[in-house]
Amino acid sequence: MVRMYRLLLVVSLMALLAVEATFKMQEVFRWKQMDYAFADEGKRNEALFNKRFIPENNLPVGIEIWNDKLFVSVPRWRAGIPSTLNYVQLYKGAPESPKLNPFPDWKSNEVGNCETGMTTVYRIKADKCDRLWVLDTGTFGIGNTTTNPCPYALNVFDLRTNRRIRRYELRAADTNANSFIANIAVDVGKSCDDAFAYLSDELGYGLIVYSWQENTSWRFMHSFFMPDPLAGDFNIGGLNFQWGEEGIFGMSLSPMQHDGFRTMFFSPLASNREFSVSTRTLRDKTKVESAYFDFTPLEDRGPLAHTTARVMDEDGVQFFNLIDQNAIGCWNSLNPYRRNNLAMIERDDEKLIFPSDVKVDREANVWVMSDRMPNFLLSSLNFEEYNFHVFFAPINVLIKDTVCEKPTPQFLYALYR
Ligand SMILES: *[C@@H]1O[C@H](CO)[C@@H](O)[C@H](O)[C@H]1NC(C)=O
Ligand SMILES: *[C@@H]1O[C@H](CO)[C@@H](O)[C@H](O)[C@H]1NC(C)=O
Repeated sequence: MVRMYRLLLVVSLMALLAVEATFKMQEVFRWKQMDYAFADEGKRNEALFNKRFIPENNLPVGIEIWNDKLFVSVPRWRAGIPSTLNYVQLYKGAPESPKLNPFPDWKSNEVGNCETGMTTVYRIKADKCDRLWVLDTGTFGIGNTTTNPCPYALNVFDLRTNRRIRRYELRAADTNANSFIANIAVDVGKSCDDAFAYLSDELGYGLIVYSWQENTSWRFMHSFFMPDPLAGDFNIGGLNFQWGEEGIFGMSLSPMQHDGFRTMFFSPLASNREFSVSTRTLRDKTKVESAYFDFTPLEDRGPLAHTTARVMDEDGVQFFNLIDQNAIGCWNSLNPYRRNNLAMIERDDEKLIFPSDVKVDREANVWVMSDRMPNFLLSSLNFEEYNFHVFFAPINVLIKDTVCEKPTPQFLYALYR
């Protein structure tokens, strides 16, 4: 009897391990190195020769999915980035390492062309009104090599026509000497005109709000945007480094609440803590001086829980990267934000080194890009290996049998009757 029990225990343990070892996401694309769809081989050779294209300097950081396009951003941290905003076509049988196409075209990706070109794009967001929101930092370089050929500008494209329908330069008062704004969240309310963009200033410690209707912006400041001085040490991809100054970065927006507003969840990069604020506050520019108590700290996620990218689906399930653990996590906002309500849903110590962006598409799939960013920045990549990956999986498959699983209709019925 005892032996039987032991055997059962061993078997069930093995089953558990097997479940953990199963990678549920499906690899869509992988690249050793990025390449671009130049008009022809002659143009490509010319770009290589005059160093307008230096393949090893191209690191993809942000993604977005809209219909059959997967957008990919490549910041101009070094020379030789031919285009910063790009896409690849999604279709059955697509090549595993497709070339990047400039979006909407080459001309719109000219470095230093402030009026009609984009210089450096990090994160992008498509909204339900078929618009693509793109923040151009206008910068070239990274860290102490950064120059600013152009000002920060928000570009909005109509995805049905591939035309830019808005360009808005941030006001001087929206930034400061330390500003580094690389992330964007988009909040569409009752109509497509009722739209706001939120931009996180990671090194200048601010949150900038842009109103589509008023075509103007304002800036919130708060001590919750600052890094936790005890959370600045990182060990990723075999490297130890300190990102101690990095403040507010990842943001996600809840579904619309009963009061007609969403809740924004955000976290500084050098921090293991999540914070929240209602968009009722953010949308109100008269609040910028008096909103201290509108911001709420949530429970600490515990160690090894730095996160940069997050997104929430229509039912309020948040997906986020766990950059210290080469992993993706989830939290169902029907549950309180507590450690035991957070789950790790995917992990891979090879293919998920620095999952740099996480997105959800309209068909309820989660998409992840990983890019080994610390290795690129602090050491070097081995271009014989696959360095950049894009994965996707249906939300329901990813959260099945985890604490993030959505209640079944029967359960909800029991709860509310
Ligand atoms: C820039 O920073 C790097 C490392 O962080 C350092 O090696 C280099 O000397 C710095 N350059 C300047 C011009 O300050
Ligand atoms: C919005 O403001 C920008 C200033 O950054 C201006 O150039 C642009 O014409 C304005 N657009 C609209 C639609 O008012």
